[in-house]
Amino acid sequence: MSESLFIPEAGTKVEKYEAVIPQIEVLISGEPDLYANLANIAAALREAFGFFWVGFYLVKNEQLVLGPFQGPIACTRINFGKGVCGTAWKEAKTQLVPDVDAFPGHIACSSASKSEIVVPVFKGDEVAMVLDVDSDLLADFDQTDQDYLEELMGILSKTI
Ligand code: SME
Repeated sequence: MSESLFIPEAGTKVEKYEAVIPQIEVLISGEPDLYANLANIAAALREAFGFFWVGFYLVKNEQLVLGPFQGPIACTRINFGKGVCGTAWKEAKTQLVPDVDAFPGHIACSSASKSEIVVPVFKGDEVAMVLDVDSDLLADFDQTDQDYLEELMGILSKTI
């Protein structure tokens, strides 16, 4: 396994996703341990895009519980339907939030977080976990992020 990522530093967001997703796919395809793979995905996304916070919350006993992440310490448990993460779980649908203060019930783990995208990861028909990405800029995520992060979570989903 390669120990470093190739990231086109001067590239567009699309070029970065196009470069990084296949490398993450290779990285996780040879490793059966879920937590090892989640940890590397969070690290790779942070390295490629410099996100303020990127990590996973896993469904455990009717709650989302904090999993591998990169960034400042975060809330450890989120209830079904609560916050952006709990809403993504309940609706089984990506939540693209340009302004977290305008999202009813947003859970502020950090006051520096301004916009957020949360993508569910499915095991069969059920949501098994969510990917949460936070930015300290308003409206930092768009349909491009949604499309590529959903593609990446689809790849992850096949390994769980
Ligand atoms: N803001 C999230 C909580 C998780 S932290 O941002 C890392 C939410 O509203 O679900």
